[in-house]
Amino acid sequence: MINGLKKWRLFTLMAALIFFLAGCGREEISTLIPAGGVAQDQFNLLLLSSAVMLFVIIVVTIVYVLAITKFRRSKLGDEMIPEQVEGSAKLEFLWTAIPIVLIIIIAIPTVYQTFDLADTRTMDVEAEDGSMTNLTVNVVAKLYWWEFEYPEQGIVTAQELVVPTDQRVYFNVVSADVKHSFWIPSIGGKIDANPENTNTFYLTFDQESSELEDGVFYGKCAELCGPSHALMDFKVKTMNAEDFEQWVTAMQEEPTSPSDELAQTGEQLFTEKTCIGCHATSGVGTTGGVGPNLATFGDRNRVAGILEHNEENLKAWIQDPQQFKPGNQMPDPSSYNNGEPLTEQELDALAAYLMSLSVEQ
Ligand code: CUA
Repeated sequence: MINGLKKWRLFTLMAALIFFLAGCGREEISTLIPAGGVAQDQFNLLLLSSAVMLFVIIVVTIVYVLAITKFRRSKLGDEMIPEQVEGSAKLEFLWTAIPIVLIIIIAIPTVYQTFDLADTRTMDVEAEDGSMTNLTVNVVAKLYWWEFEYPEQGIVTAQELVVPTDQRVYFNVVSADVKHSFWIPSIGGKIDANPENTNTFYLTFDQESSELEDGVFYGKCAELCGPSHALMDFKVKTMNAEDFEQWVTAMQEEPTSPSDELAQTGEQLFTEKTCIGCHATSGVGTTGGVGPNLATFGDRNRVAGILEHNEENLKAWIQDPQQFKPGNQMPDPSSYNNGEPLTEQELDALAAYLMSLSVEQ
């Protein structure tokens, strides 16, 4: 009975493990499916140390099994005294040397990669025409969203990082409030977003995100930062250099008013209800927004980083942001609408306007 119970427990544990491990295979968010040079280097280190650890486990298991099967008292008799090896210089040397060799095998590539991946010296190298040769993005983490500024291009966006493939992209990472951590599992990282200093690193993106099931890579906050830490997601769109240039040019243009009548009403409401006070709707700008820049809202993959991207979810979010992301800074509508909730018509208009904000063709 007890035995049966134990087996049942073990089975449940294994089933739970398989269930969790099944989540490791999604290419838009898996460290185990690297989609960039940095991720590949980090993955190789992971493989190397796992191989060394596996080797140790196998050797120890073999020695252990031999010891308990070959050297049983019942086989060798009570009188048998095994060979005494205390103070054996040969053995002492052997079991000191082997671990040292194993550690050296792990240490050399790890130390090399640690410095190589943190090497940001080429960041400020200028091309002959005075422009930066590398793209730099300033990342600002805020409760609970992400702002991405492209200082060289004079544009800013939020929640969806857009980057070109096949070149180094440098990141200056800071926080506007508490500690967060910037992490794109399939691309590499993570790096802390601290309020008191800027951390800099680089990543490379080898795969265009349009090939992915969701069309984006997933990014996460990897530092416990408050009640909605687990919901502090962002997305990453990767595209070839040409498409990226187009995107930048479109971002730099002044936004035009929507042609749709409902969306036009929404645009008016957006100003009247003072939404515009926190949310910019032009991609031209710098970091420092109170709320996320919405210039690319219609192009996004999620509402608030977590909800499926449709008007119903957008309206639900505007009506009660705290329900979806407890502790976020977005105010309840009654605070800017004379103590009243927004009407269904107002919500429809706002949603139509926000969905019309797009820089992608
Ligand atoms: Cu921000 Cu966790």
